[in-house]
Amino acid sequence: MNKKRDIFQYNDSTIKTCDDVQCTNTDIPKYQCADVFRFGNFETKIRNEIQFAEYIPNVNYYIFENQYIEEVLDSINNNENILFVGYPGTGKSSLVLYLASVCKVPIVQIQSSGEMSEVDIIGGFQNISGNMVWVDGLIPFALKNGFWILIDEINMVLPEILARLHSVLDDRRHLDLREINQVIKVTEKTIIFATMNPYDVGTKPLSASLWSRFHIVVPFDYLSFDNEVKLLIEKVNCSKEDAECIVSIANLCRDAYRKNEMSKVVDTRMVLACGKKVKSFEFLKNDSKQHIKRAFHTTILSKLSYEDQSIVNCILTAKGIC
Ligand SMILES: Nc1ncnc2c1ncn2[C@@H]1O[C@H](COP(=O)(O)OP(=O)(O)OP(=O)(O)O)[C@@H](O)[C@H]1O
Ligand SMILES: [Mg+2]
Repeated sequence: MNKKRDIFQYNDSTIKTCDDVQCTNTDIPKYQCADVFRFGNFETKIRNEIQFAEYIPNVNYYIFENQYIEEVLDSINNNENILFVGYPGTGKSSLVLYLASVCKVPIVQIQSSGEMSEVDIIGGFQNISGNMVWVDGLIPFALKNGFWILIDEINMVLPEILARLHSVLDDRRHLDLREINQVIKVTEKTIIFATMNPYDVGTKPLSASLWSRFHIVVPFDYLSFDNEVKLLIEKVNCSKEDAECIVSIANLCRDAYRKNEMSKVVDTRMVLACGKKVKSFEFLKNDSKQHIKRAFHTTILSKLSYEDQSIVNCILTAKGIC
């Protein structure tokens, strides 16, 4: 007899929350009792892992605007490695954390930086009560337990660490812990996601051998005007009028960045911080939008070079914020 499946289904590309899920039990988040998460023509199994619950992120809000979500789900189902490429704050990491959250999968998120050592990622011997004992790094820990792995800013990872990840990402599907003569297999439970921003300071181009080890590469850009406005309203409770004003300024700054007139991009993270501050300074609201000007200073302007600041100031003046 066919068991009826519960489906956590997304039908379009607008804002989705767990309230969209069809389920009769009102005590628990609705997607917890669904069997699959569906987007468009593709669905993926909800794992509902009970063990390691503390490694399951709790991200219940994501705006699906990227046109390649179906490809991502297909790759997840086929155990393929997925690389997300795009400007900062375009929602790359959040997408992975959201999917891990709805699919109830434990995940380790590796925030790469030049300082991150092989011991952190792969493992190393540590002196424990006078004995040198091998301690697994994040990747062996995740592989042994069937976690998903998210390597953020993979183009900042040291080359010696990347070299050890080659066998994890390619057809060999294993990590060779040569220090302790152990080989760890990548099981079908583990999916490897990575993100990179090719334009950021401190990043290096990814080697051709690493590019080719990612089965799909998904480009990311900023949300459309309407969706970024929605994000501000939903996430930081901005008024529609203020949200529209902030996003239109951010978009003008992004145009200037794309034309190489600014050296730093105004990303969604900054926009959200600004929206939150605008809310706090709402009491200053007047004809010249003092509350927005005040919020812009600490959340956006102060993060930019003097040259960039003068361009943003011109944009603010043109928008009647002075
Ligand atoms: N599509 C989206 N839906 C919901 N929130 C989003 C979306 N895009 C961006 N955000 C929000 O913007 C902020 C930045 O997103 P995120 O950290 O995922 O960006 P990123 O592309 O990984 O940036 P970076 O390259 O700097 O790591 C987060 O607060 C996130 O919640
Ligand atoms: Mg990120």
